[in-house]
Amino acid sequence: MARRVLHDEYFRKAKAEGYVARSAFKLGEINERKRLIRAGDRVLDLGCAPGSWLQVASEIVGTRGVVVGLDLQRVTHEMPPNVTTVVGDIDEVDAGELVRLGGGKFGVVVSDMAPATSGHGDHFRSVRLCRSILGVLADVLRPGGNLAMKVFEGEEMRALVMETDALFDEARAFKPRASRDVSSETYIVAKGFRAGRAS
Ligand SMILES: C[S@@+](CC[C@H](N)C(=O)[O-])C[C@H]1O[C@@H](n2cnc3c(N)ncnc32)[C@H](O)[C@@H]1O
Repeated sequence: MARRVLHDEYFRKAKAEGYVARSAFKLGEINERKRLIRAGDRVLDLGCAPGSWLQVASEIVGTRGVVVGLDLQRVTHEMPPNVTTVVGDIDEVDAGELVRLGGGKFGVVVSDMAPATSGHGDHFRSVRLCRSILGVLADVLRPGGNLAMKVFEGEEMRALVMETDALFDEARAFKPRASRDVSSETYIVAKGFRAGRAS
């Protein structure tokens, strides 16, 4: 399918279904295929604005679960009652505050974070954001927990998958159908956080 057609198809679908952004379908598909988030989970969404992943995660976890989001930008769209958002930078994050807002360590961390600028060097900036995420996992993710994080593909991709794999029982790259028109965007999906256990 041509890029433009695919883009428009998801854009229309997001609008019709009340999602604030078309990215909603990426998390939907990741979760359908990889079963990361379940009803009742505590989910942390890093780089959550404008908020469509918050909406999707909120639906999956249901009323027994909670979703906490962090972003440089404020989420202005009204969110369901089981969603809390914080304005902040992943590099200066107060992990204790996020865990407190979630009511305990999270079962799942998701991130659709993208570097603020777009152009040459995005791959390296995106990898740096992913490494910041890996750096805070021990403080926010419970043992056995799951992760999905976006990365722009490039020469550091393999090393990043291996670094992630060393922290989890398994880690793989996965490209949802809804990402196909964004050529270099993919997700690293990892399950079974080892939290200090030897790999
Ligand atoms: C593609 S958007 C996320 C879309 C979101 N998943 C949704 O469905 O609405 C990427 C977000 O990453 C955020 N971001 C980029 N760098 C960040 C950082 N250092 N700390 C926190 N958020 C960051 C941006 O502000 C932006 O809102």
